[in-house]
Amino acid sequence: MEYIKWLEDKYTVNVQKFDNQHKKLIEIINQVFNAKMNNAGKGTILNILNQLNDYTKSHFTNEELLLKENDYPALQTHRNEHALFISKINGFIQDFHTNEISLNDEMLDFLKSWLINHIMQTDKKYGVYLNERSIR
Ligand SMILES: [Fe+2]
Repeated sequence: MEYIKWLEDKYTVNVQKFDNQHKKLIEIINQVFNAKMNNAGKGTILNILNQLNDYTKSHFTNEELLLKENDYPALQTHRNEHALFISKINGFIQDFHTNEISLNDEMLDFLKSWLINHIMQTDKKYGVYLNERSIR
C-alpha cells in the first residue's frame, strides 16, 4: 500500500536526480508503513529505519554539495532543516531500540509531513535557483 503517493506536478523540484532520490525516500517510508501494517518484527522495522537513515543522509549530502558548488544563498537554513530530520530519525531508532514501543502513527505522520513539506517549501526553492543555472 502507498502511504505516500508521488505526485509529479506537486512534488517535482525540476532537478531529475533529486526527484529520483525523493521518490526513493518515499518508497522507504512506504516500506516502514507496510511493515507496521503487517505487524513485522522489531528486526525488520529497525532494518528499514536504518535504511531510511542511511539513504536520507546520502541524499542530503548530495543536495548540500550541489548547492554549495552553486553558492546557494539559503544553504545554511537548508542544512539546519536536514540536521533536524536526521536527529529525529535517530531518536526514533534509539527509542525503538531501548523501549519495547512499536512504531506509532505519530512517527509515520512526522516522516510523511516533514518530507512533503520540506520538498514543497524548501527544496522547490533550490529547484528554481538551479534551473536558472541550467541545472535540471
Ligand atoms: Fe532538502
